[in-house]
Amino acid sequence: MSILFTPGKIGSLHLPNRIVRSATAESMADAEGRPLPQLIRLYQDLARGGVGLIITGHMYVHPSGKAHSEMCGIYAEDLIPDLAKLADAVHQENGLVVVQINHGGMQCSKETVPETIAPSAIDADFLERPAREMTPDEITGLIQAYGHAARRVQEAGFDGVQIHAAHGFLISEFLSPFVNHRTDKWGGDIENRMRFLREVCRAVREQVGPDYPVLIKLGMMDGVEGGLTSDEGSQVIAALEGMGFNGVEISGGIGGTRNLNVPKGIRTESDEAYFLPLAQQARLVTQLPIILVGGFRSRTVMEQVLNDGYADFISLCRPLISEPDLPNRLRLGLQEKSRCLSSNNCWPEKEGEGIACKCPHEKIRPKTEV
Ligand SMILES: Cc1cc2nc3c(=O)[nH]c(=O)nc-3n(C[C@H](O)[C@H](O)[C@H](O)COP(=O)(O)O)c2cc1C
Ligand code: SF4
Repeated sequence: MSILFTPGKIGSLHLPNRIVRSATAESMADAEGRPLPQLIRLYQDLARGGVGLIITGHMYVHPSGKAHSEMCGIYAEDLIPDLAKLADAVHQENGLVVVQINHGGMQCSKETVPETIAPSAIDADFLERPAREMTPDEITGLIQAYGHAARRVQEAGFDGVQIHAAHGFLISEFLSPFVNHRTDKWGGDIENRMRFLREVCRAVREQVGPDYPVLIKLGMMDGVEGGLTSDEGSQVIAALEGMGFNGVEISGGIGGTRNLNVPKGIRTESDEAYFLPLAQQARLVTQLPIILVGGFRSRTVMEQVLNDGYADFISLCRPLISEPDLPNRLRLGLQEKSRCLSSNNCWPEKEGEGIACKCPHEKIRPKTEV
């Protein structure tokens, strides 16, 4: 049997196979961040399609961290009943679902927050506007907000929580020497820049208890001059188990580096698995289950990375926007490769559209039997 379809474990979470749906902001929420019915349908399709674990699109832990319009929220108690419907819908299809929690920091849109905040005041050409330096009280307040958001995830019946520490959002801003120039205990060397993440994990654990699956998506390097390097990223990886995480998904790139994080033009097998060198570095310093994301398209590349032991799970974003049933199709031998063209036409262009696969696909797919 293909290693892709063998069971695996992340903490107390038992996955039926090695394919994970990487967090994908679906833009299917109302103005208050409540999920819309189309999001429930999307998760049902994903669960029926055979993916081992769904990670939701990022949800904002506090109103000051709403990154873009139509983002799902997890910042208040009265959101729990609607979120519980998402968890139920996946469980009814025998799927598993973990919520990614986030604060958009310096990258929040003008449409969603009146001002942006960051560890230090910053203006950069990739930002919509300058961000203001956070006060120590704001820092401790937001740490609690992550903890309470994680508790809501658990109360709503989800199977775990993933802390977003990648892609230039708030936690990755604290880790980044390009963004974080603080001279207090929250800035300076990598130990200090890690403190915010450490405290967030502590607050989350306090709320959800020792056995609940807590994952992280970590940007191991920034890809900008003066930013986080993979060597420092490795030091963060080495500390994760001690902080209380059960598994790590590896990514990279901060603001303006969407090309690094979600590059276009993945055409050949050698373009795939573009963060593999980061996973290879991470494997040397952690025993935690590694989920690797970034450009996986073919079964052979996925199997190779798993067989080599550099990752324990393979995470897919765009391939599952294009074909939510790709895992079943790979399992049944109906397909060897995702049809995704990696041209990035999946982002919504206007409100109400949501993510959708809009690249042209000519071939009719053979019918799946499931
Ligand atoms: C439409 C879209 C939305 C995304 N939203 C998120 C998100 O909410 N959280 C996150 O960590 N990454 C997000 N990403 C990044 C993906 O999870 C993934 O890291 C990246 O697309 C590379 O994987 P792929 O080649 O399989 O698409 C998003 C990517 C796309 C294309
Ligand atoms: S729109 Fe293009 S890049 Fe996006 S999922 Fe579809 S094929 Fe892939």
